[in-house]
Amino acid sequence: MMRVQIGRATLYCGDALEVLPELSGMDAVLTDPPYSSGGAFRGDRMGDAQTKYLSTRTLPSFSGDNRDQRAFHFWSALWSSAALRACKVGAVVCVFSDWRQLPVSTDYLQAGGWIWRGIVPWVKTSYRPQLGRFGAQCEYVVWGSAGPMRLDRGVRALSGFYEYASPMQREHVTQKPLGLMADLLNIAPPGGRVLDAFMGSGTTGVAVVQSKREFFGIELDAHAFDVACRRIDDAQNSLFDERVRLVDDSADDLNER
Ligand SMILES: C[S@@+](CC[C@H](N)C(=O)[O-])C[C@H]1O[C@@H](n2cnc3c(N)ncnc32)[C@H](O)[C@@H]1O
Repeated sequence: MMRVQIGRATLYCGDALEVLPELSGMDAVLTDPPYSSGGAFRGDRMGDAQTKYLSTRTLPSFSGDNRDQRAFHFWSALWSSAALRACKVGAVVCVFSDWRQLPVSTDYLQAGGWIWRGIVPWVKTSYRPQLGRFGAQCEYVVWGSAGPMRLDRGVRALSGFYEYASPMQREHVTQKPLGLMADLLNIAPPGGRVLDAFMGSGTTGVAVVQSKREFFGIELDAHAFDVACRRIDDAQNSLFDERVRLVDDSADDLNER
């Protein structure tokens, strides 16, 4: 396992099941694990992530997306339980799922010891209509908490669904919209510690850094890890540039007085 520190972001290149027991004191988990989905039949699911989720082969594939259903359920319960142990009492969890894995996702979260509290749809503003069928226009965020939730966490009332287009420019096959992650993060206390155990290209990390919270991210694939490090570093630097600009502006104000 390799660890990289970028400002208030701590990034691990390794297996979530090995890294999670090293972590503690998290206020929230916001994560997008491999779905092991993408087809009606076992053979479809065992396919490569790149072929399952993209119509073009322009981005590298990623790990862990071809477990069969029983193995997916069992493995997910293991990591969800390890994530719970890394959290404070009352911490919040938000986990992405597609429609096929929704029943298993609500089950594995509870098997890991979390209290399941609801499902928040991500409504995609662009999707492929299919003749004679309902559109598969949503992915879902299953959410819950590590025991009772405190109402004095500094968190306002939040929406029950979010509308965003999938990112046009991607560096990961299943990259999530940054705005969506930023909106979901509002469930975490201001300034708190947020964990993404499957960070891919680091979208959660960018949103966490921009919201001035502390980030802990894990990724198994070296290529995705490098992309995440670069994106989070860029986010951190633009925050720094902003602060420098603010200091400069206030110096100008002082000079003018
Ligand atoms: C669905 S993607 C996350 C995409 C991310 N939300 C983004 O916006 O880029 C899941 C990621 O989990 C990683 N992964 C799979 N198995 C893992 C494991 N055991 N430990 C850590 N990361 C893993 C995959 O390599 C993949 O990049």
